[in-house]
Amino acid sequence: MSNDVTVVILAAGQGTRMKSRMAKVLHRAGGRALVEHAIFAALGVAPPERIFVVVGHQADAVREVAEAAGVHTFEQKEQLGTGHAMMCGEAALAGLGGHMVVTVGDCPLIRAETLQSLVERQRKSAAAAVVLTADVADSTGYGRIIRDQNGAIEAIVEHKAATDAQRKVKEINSGIYCFDSAEFWRHIRMVRPDNPANEYYLTDVIGILNGAGLRVAATKIADPGELLGINDRVQLAEADRILRDRKTRQLMLSGVTIEKPETVSIDLDVRIGMDTVIGPFARITGDTVIGEDCKVGTCAILHDAVLENGAEVFPFSMVSASKVGAGAHVGPYARLRMGAELGEGAHVGNFVELKKTLLGAGSKSMHLAYLGDSQIGSKVNVGAGTITCNYDGKKKHATVIGDGVFVGSNSTLVAPLALEDGAFIAAGSVITDDVPEGALALGRARQVVKKDWKRKET
Ligand code: UD1
Ligand code: CA
Repeated sequence: MSNDVTVVILAAGQGTRMKSRMAKVLHRAGGRALVEHAIFAALGVAPPERIFVVVGHQADAVREVAEAAGVHTFEQKEQLGTGHAMMCGEAALAGLGGHMVVTVGDCPLIRAETLQSLVERQRKSAAAAVVLTADVADSTGYGRIIRDQNGAIEAIVEHKAATDAQRKVKEINSGIYCFDSAEFWRHIRMVRPDNPANEYYLTDVIGILNGAGLRVAATKIADPGELLGINDRVQLAEADRILRDRKTRQLMLSGVTIEKPETVSIDLDVRIGMDTVIGPFARITGDTVIGEDCKVGTCAILHDAVLENGAEVFPFSMVSASKVGAGAHVGPYARLRMGAELGEGAHVGNFVELKKTLLGAGSKSMHLAYLGDSQIGSKVNVGAGTITCNYDGKKKHATVIGDGVFVGSNSTLVAPLALEDGAFIAAGSVITDDVPEGALALGRARQVVKKDWKRKET
């Protein structure tokens, strides 16, 4: 990455074909907004303080995403074309000098390496502009690359403005360029909206530079697949599939086993350690971090989850914004949410839900329980059917359970409540008062047995 490279990301358009109330660049693929993909690629060639996103439609929402990534924005209030979008940034950009890459916010497959090679080409050739082009079978809608008899690039002609002969050209403009910044700002003001769309076309600057006797070069992209532009939700789904496919391949090559990878859905920001095994149909999203030697079962759903080394999440379990300690087990059919945490070697079994609850090291809750707003110590056994009654209709209350406590099956623990170390709760109890260390608490009606009982005759 160099300090003489600036990147401008065009992202002010609405994207009418998305048929959405949300700006196109905010739609997500691979777990990131489209504009975030452009920012990630840009960060591979320029420092964040030299990256600028042009905002327009839903400017505030797009600006928020850009600022969260640490890059700058400038606003294009009215969308009068890609050339006009650049003109709106003159005050911020013209003084920076060096190389200026212009790219778009709706091509999420573009790699940093591709932008890098464009910059290198401009650096070596000393051209005023280098255009990234591609040969495509169907060039409908794209700007066409017009070359002279010697093969040098003369101009870019937009589809709407092209003659029949020009429309036959298969080499298209990707919409991605690297300019010599000084030459760009010297010539952009000559762009006029004299075309059928009455727009200021950024592409016109290529012909203008050429006309001024400056060198313009073109470089063909190695993989035209990277240029997939998102205009509708079918293309969004296609980009999502490709991004996730790249992610699973990269994980497998780094030592993660993924069974039936085509069925698994993993966000780009997820991290997974070596020798972890991911089962079919798992969905792993957000900022999830999974350690080494873990297992994630079939159809498990993890979002913003942390799994420490050797943790196992069995099939059909959900873990969101929660942590599973080293060697701990979850599920099958369990749910951890909102800051639940399992200590080392803790086990949670089927149909158990934990919310804002810490289950200490080696503790177990194997069947049918709800544990909410609770602090549970180590080596505790929580019997089947235990419920922490944490809500009185107005407020949430805490349950504190010490080390080595035994909670019998079908216990109802009415919070606020404390069960001190070693306490023993008899099965079927309703516990409303604190239980001191080592004590046995029973809170249920005593069984009555009537010997030789006979049903009344009616
Ligand atoms: C553009 C190119 C075309 C190229 C194609 C590649 C121009 C004039 N044409 O056409 O040669 O083949 O990309 O996909 O540049 N935007 C703004 N402000 C505006 C208009 C657009 O920020 O006023 C942004 C859009 O949000 C989008 C990008 O610029 O991210 C490209 O605009 P779009 O309207 O999609 O251009 P194309 O017609 O596809
Ligand atoms: Ca486009």
